[in-house]
Amino acid sequence: MTEAATMIAVENLHKSIRNGTRTVDILKGISFTVPRGQFVAVMGSSGSGKSTLLGLLAGLDTPSAGDVRLNGTAISYLPEDQLAKVRGRTVGFVFQSYQLVPTLTALENVLLPYELNANGSDGKAGMERARALLTNVGLSDRLDHYPVQLSGGEQQRVALARAFILRPPIVMADEPTGNLDTTNGAHVLELLLNLNRVEGTTLVLVTHDPALASYADRCIVLRDGLVISDEHQQAVHPAMAR
Ligand SMILES: Nc1ncnc2c1ncn2[C@@H]1O[C@H](COP(=O)(O)OP(=O)(O)O)[C@@H](O)[C@H]1O
Ligand SMILES: [Mg+2]
Repeated sequence: MTEAATMIAVENLHKSIRNGTRTVDILKGISFTVPRGQFVAVMGSSGSGKSTLLGLLAGLDTPSAGDVRLNGTAISYLPEDQLAKVRGRTVGFVFQSYQLVPTLTALENVLLPYELNANGSDGKAGMERARALLTNVGLSDRLDHYPVQLSGGEQQRVALARAFILRPPIVMADEPTGNLDTTNGAHVLELLLNLNRVEGTTLVLVTHDPALASYADRCIVLRDGLVISDEHQQAVHPAMAR
């Protein structure tokens, strides 16, 4: 049997921040690899370093030491223009706070990464994919709505469609249901897992909710900037958990 390709490799990752005269060590040496197609939950209490780790994994931030490889490319010390290119074609990101552009419609928000990474790509194909993704998350009748006209759950569903528009091999989500009530949160998570399965994506989900983590193939737990446990688990399907 051939091993699945490694999509994410983290090697002795450190992140320290200068706070006045003091240096605060946020991540203190983290190493792991994630094979293609795996769904990993990252857990840990507030302040344990989850968001810092995810930001480094996605190339949104630079480590103090150590290295991140995405799909074989070392990203940590690339110049910003090269990093932006690799990030654009490799990672879709979902934030807790949706982060939609308020002056763009739902459809335009989903198309934005496509247009920023155009490189002569077919605008019509992008439009069709954006519409299909928005339909997939139940928003076919909200294409021309602006974020302010959408509920929190609807905004996060637009953000899900946006994360998948470029067919990234990896999607990362930081507490994607953290601003939503239980019902809307469950719906958004189910849509995320559904898209993930259909698209064959590798998924890293940061959550402090054990119920959400139980859907994952593997759970990595952080405490004070270190991995304190990293275990494979039998993933529960969200429909089974209800
Ligand atoms: N820019 C920063 N300056 C100072 N401290 C920070 C900064 N970013 C994060 N931290 C600290 O690092 C720790 C980990 O933060 P974070 O990664 O946001 O944790 P989590 O997402 O698990 O709640 C926290 O103690 C936080 O206060
Ligand atoms: Mg966080």
